[in-house]
Amino acid sequence: MVRKVVRYLNNPVLEQIAEPVTEFDTPELHQLIVDMFDTMYKAHGVGLAAPQIDVAKRVTVIDTTGGDEEEEPEQLVLINPQVILTDGKQTGEEGCLSIPGFREPVRRPKIATVRAQDVKGEWFEITGEDLLARAMMHEIDHLNGILFLSHLSALKRDLIKRKIRKLQKAGEWE
Ligand code: NI
Repeated sequence: MVRKVVRYLNNPVLEQIAEPVTEFDTPELHQLIVDMFDTMYKAHGVGLAAPQIDVAKRVTVIDTTGGDEEEEPEQLVLINPQVILTDGKQTGEEGCLSIPGFREPVRRPKIATVRAQDVKGEWFEITGEDLLARAMMHEIDHLNGILFLSHLSALKRDLIKRKIRKLQKAGEWE
C-alpha cells in the first residue's frame, strides 16, 4: 500500500533518531517493507527510510533502478544498518522525497560498505559505489534524523527553509 510521504518541517519524525528493529520476520515488518517499496516507486525515488512514512524505525529500502521497467529491479532492504567503511568522494545532485522540488549538489563517499540485517534478522554486508553508495548514505542519514540539507552550507539551507515555510503558508506543502 502506498503511504503518505512526510515532508520536511511538517513532522518532527524526520529529525529524530529512529528506533532499532528488534523483532524480525513478523507480518508487520514484511508489510512495512512492501509499503515502503510501493511508496518509493510511486514517488519515483531510489530510496526511502521508514521515518519518511512516519514510522520511527531503522528500516530503509533502496532500488537504484527506481522501478524503471526496462531494468531488473535491484531491491535492497537495510535494517539497523551501520556504515562500516567509506572511501573516496563524489559530488552529485541529490534530492529527497520529503523535500520535493529541491535538489542540490552533495558530497558523499564514492564507495560505502554497510552492515545491516535483513527481514529475517540475518546480518550481511554490502559495498556500493556511486549511486548506491550515495543512496545508502542518504537513507542511513534519515535514520539518524539527518536530511541532505545538513550537508549544505548554512546559507543555502536557510534559503531552502525559507522557501519551504512560504510554501507551507500558501498551503502548497502538505
Ligand atoms: Ni531522503
